Amino acid sequence: MSDGASKFLGVLGHPIGHSQSPRLFKRILSAEGRDDVAYRTFDLPNIEDFHTLTQDHPNLVGLNVTVPHKQAILSSLVRVSEEAQAVGAVNTLVKTPQGWEGHNTDVWGFQRSIQPFLANRHERALVLGTGGSAAAVHHVLAKLGIDAISVSRTGDSTKGTRALGRASIGYHEVSEWVVRHHLLVVHCTPVGMHPHDGDMVPFPTSWLTPEHLVVDLIYTPAETRLLREARGRGAAVLNGADMLRLQAEKAWEIWKTSGV
Ligand SMILES: NC(=O)c1ccc[n+]([C@@H]2O[C@H](COP(=O)([O-])OP(=O)(O)OC[C@H]3O[C@@H](n4cnc5c(N)ncnc54)[C@H](OP(=O)(O)O)[C@@H]3O)[C@@H](O)[C@H]2O)c1
Repeated sequence: MSDGASKFLGVLGHPIGHSQSPRLFKRILSAEGRDDVAYRTFDLPNIEDFHTLTQDHPNLVGLNVTVPHKQAILSSLVRVSEEAQAVGAVNTLVKTPQGWEGHNTDVWGFQRSIQPFLANRHERALVLGTGGSAAAVHHVLAKLGIDAISVSRTGDSTKGTRALGRASIGYHEVSEWVVRHHLLVVHCTPVGMHPHDGDMVPFPTSWLTPEHLVVDLIYTPAETRLLREARGRGAAVLNGADMLRLQAEKAWEIWKTSGV
């Protein structure tokens, strides 16, 4: 804990070294003049050790949760917000007198980050990947009335924790027709993330057009190979940096409302 801090917040995951959250919250806490609150990382390989961790740190009042615990932690919580229940994953925890409660601010972050870029023509979407972030993305697209198809390596999104989107196809089924009829593409896999900057999911970028908006939730590198190729076809592109900042700001708002 830093000098003067009487309570702390943190991020829980495994591995955790790559997390951008400490940097983001250092900035938020400093901008708010909150030197009574510190932010740190918790590398927790086994989610069964969550209770021991919270007992060992009684001044811990809030947590961000990242891969691989966003879903597994649900059973350790006393309450889960409606939105997080709908998504089936949490990324923000608040300590209450009854126990820990969970929220999902990825939903807020994703929605606020894409809204300025959406046009009427973006009425159908392809969502690449079927993990936790894809579930948040599907939830937002459904709220916005955008019809989404799930694209995965198996072509079967029900193999994940829940059914995603109105249909599910494999990458090999993404034909020119499919690309031309889905003007929003959202990439929700870790493929292409630093240090594997040259990697890309097998998505046929040659059929993208200037009408397309391609969103990659990855924020390092700032431009993945997928976004570079999409930009090369004239598509509008957006990385995950805005979503990351917005979900952190929303988490801080939740913590402040809870009395942090
Ligand atoms: N910007 C933000 O604020 C933000 C927030 C959350 C997540 N993210 C980023 O989003 C990405 C995904 O996060 P997540 O939490 O959803 O991860 P996840 O739960 O581990 O899911 C990733 C999905 O990616 C697909 N996948 C994994 N390895 C693959 C491979 N080698 N080839 C093709 N597909 C593969 C899998 O889908 P299939 O098996 O169905 O193909 C899997 O379900 C990460 O890079 C993360 O950093 C960013």
